[in-house]
Amino acid sequence: MILQLSQFHFPDDPARLFPDSPERDLYLEIGFGDGRFWPQYLQSFEQPPNYLGVEVSGASMQKAQRRLERLKIGNAHLTKLPALVMLDAVIPEQSLSGIIVNFPDPWPKQDHLDMRLLRVPFFRLAASRLKAGGAVLLTTDHEEYFEFACREAQESGVMTVERGTAPPAALETKYAVKWRELGLDVQHARFTPTAHPALPRPDIRPYPNAALPQETDAVPHAILTNSQQLDLSDFEKSAVRGPGYTVVLLDAYRSLRRPELTVLAHIEEGELTQEVLVGITHRSDGSTLVRLAKFGGPIITAGVKAAVAAVTAELQQRGGVITHTGY
Ligand SMILES: C[S@@+](CC[C@H](N)C(=O)[O-])C[C@H]1O[C@@H](n2cnc3c(N)ncnc32)[C@H](O)[C@@H]1O
Repeated sequence: MILQLSQFHFPDDPARLFPDSPERDLYLEIGFGDGRFWPQYLQSFEQPPNYLGVEVSGASMQKAQRRLERLKIGNAHLTKLPALVMLDAVIPEQSLSGIIVNFPDPWPKQDHLDMRLLRVPFFRLAASRLKAGGAVLLTTDHEEYFEFACREAQESGVMTVERGTAPPAALETKYAVKWRELGLDVQHARFTPTAHPALPRPDIRPYPNAALPQETDAVPHAILTNSQQLDLSDFEKSAVRGPGYTVVLLDAYRSLRRPELTVLAHIEEGELTQEVLVGITHRSDGSTLVRLAKFGGPIITAGVKAAVAAVTAELQQRGGVITHTGY
């Protein structure tokens, strides 16, 4: 099944994600491409483990999903997310038996090295999310990235590095076949945690959903008075930066049906990017409600709260008076 970010809990319980096989091991594959690896790899298990796949390419998602359906592979979920967001926000501590990375994008240029996935922060996060006996399995054709990843794993202080032979399934992925045809060698390493660091978890939650407990039910909002006449017709694109986030208020739109305006905001927080709508509703009691809109299934993060605060500040600058904030 394809899961959206807003369908997860933070962190999520593997037993909730895989109710038919809650006791099985859980593997995470990062950048599964067209999804060839997992159907082959799971043949090496007596009982198929649970599988989560993360990809940032929508086209790859569809190909991999069709493959899982065609081969009738169950207890497998795919999601379109950057790997670090999945590991950081969704995966619980010490829950994974394996993290698979086959032929990661090498980012070979010197000034792109910080785009690489397999750096110290990844290894620390991986060590926190892997359980005893679990490991990161890396297979790549890129010798320089391979050596870089081994050094970073060692520098993380929480991984041992064991170079070895790639599992046969990793030699049959789309990129494995491509590089083999070009005569390139493949490197493989197994990174095993020596510690499971306790890392702070991000404070994020999905937009309220009836299935979630009550305490997650607060949506960032504010109430103002003296702002009913404000229509933001002089609105200009603006940016707000805070710890770990950048919010850009891109544009404002007027509803044709209701006394409502909507502001479109773009939010970047590390690898997580969201576009959200913030509604401004002029209410019959004379107040104005500024509130995150449900549209698009936003995830409530510090950046999203800051977007609601930034829209509130726009109204305040034009004479609105805040009577209540909930962000
Ligand atoms: C070179 S391809 C390898 C695909 C596949 N593993 C294979 O061996 O054929 C790298 C894949 O990683 C995906 N990717 C890149 N950065 C990612 C990230 N931060 N999180 C998840 N996937 C990512 C890309 O979209 C791409 O499909």
